[in-house]
Amino acid sequence: TDIVSTILEQHSITGGAVPAMSLSSLATTNNFTKNLQEMAKYYFAQGGKLFRPKVSLLMSDACSQLAGSKIDAGSVSLNQYRIAMVSEMIHTASLVHDDVIDESDQRRGQPTVNARWGNRQAVLVGDFILARATKVLCSIGEPPVISTMAEVVEDLVQGELMQLTVPSELEPAQRFQHYMTKTFYKTASLFANSCKSVAMLAGLSESHQKDAFDYGRHLGLGFQLVDDMLDYVASSAVLGKPSVSDLRQGLATCPVLFAAHDYPELNALINRRFRQDGDVERALNIVMNSTGLEQTRELAKEHSLAAVSLAEKLPRGDSSRDCLIEIAVKQLDRDH
Ligand code: FPP
Ligand code: MG
Ligand code: MG
Repeated sequence: TDIVSTILEQHSITGGAVPAMSLSSLATTNNFTKNLQEMAKYYFAQGGKLFRPKVSLLMSDACSQLAGSKIDAGSVSLNQYRIAMVSEMIHTASLVHDDVIDESDQRRGQPTVNARWGNRQAVLVGDFILARATKVLCSIGEPPVISTMAEVVEDLVQGELMQLTVPSELEPAQRFQHYMTKTFYKTASLFANSCKSVAMLAGLSESHQKDAFDYGRHLGLGFQLVDDMLDYVASSAVLGKPSVSDLRQGLATCPVLFAAHDYPELNALINRRFRQDGDVERALNIVMNSTGLEQTRELAKEHSLAAVSLAEKLPRGDSSRDCLIEIAVKQLDRDH
């Protein structure tokens, strides 16, 4: 079943409410910015998984139950709802900029913002979405929460920069450390800090805030590890075979880092970012013959189960707690 609709129904929120609210916060009355608004709405209008707001809303509900708060309209407060919105807006702004950096021309089967309107306008569109997200965030009026979500933006930039500038000639252990730190910044921080923010808004203690943060951190790390594995195994509709877009972009993710342990000849290819003719094919071949994918799945499972243990500490009998557990388990089996 579609978990998003189930969750949104549980909270008496009509499907698509999150992008709709994000869209209204992008609305502007100024004629000069009409084009900007249209461009800014472009990715939101395409839908997407809404995974980040989904997790934020579920954590909001579970934390409110834990705090024993009585909120009239369902168990998600307006401010927690704003965090869900902001999480999707920050994510979308980062995708607009990411597509410029990656020179991507397609996202979700449609032309990217940069492909439609050019790089220069795309940079401004990302900035605009971020500015509007900041306004929504400030409307919450809680400086510690604003600061927690600002941390996400800083971490996204840091993660993206770490990915662009992996020092060559790292020892395998350092390289793995660099990869995991990059993965926290680029992917897990948004989940972790959104979960922490909604726990703060529920008025929970620091130790409960930390549990919420760690749930998001483990969930995000597991999510990215599965993503990195799928890049090798999920066949692209266009190519009919794995796209290995990470290798093509010169990125050494978990599967190839594990494979290099048994096949040290990969180290030279990793260090030159798979740039020589035949490097991508050779690396792919070695990874497929290694236990790299299996080990990546094992590590993803460890993080997902760590997230489950943290969700289990939330009040029993609450359906949002059960959904948070289910999401962490099910992400291991997703195929896209
Ligand atoms: C997608 O990764 C990109 C990210 C998760 C983060 C990108 C972050 C920035 C560009 C920093 C700027 C941030 C803001 C908030 C403006 P990917 O390229 O691996 O995945 P893809 O296949 O979805 O393109
Ligand atoms: Mg990209
Ligand atoms: Mg990228």
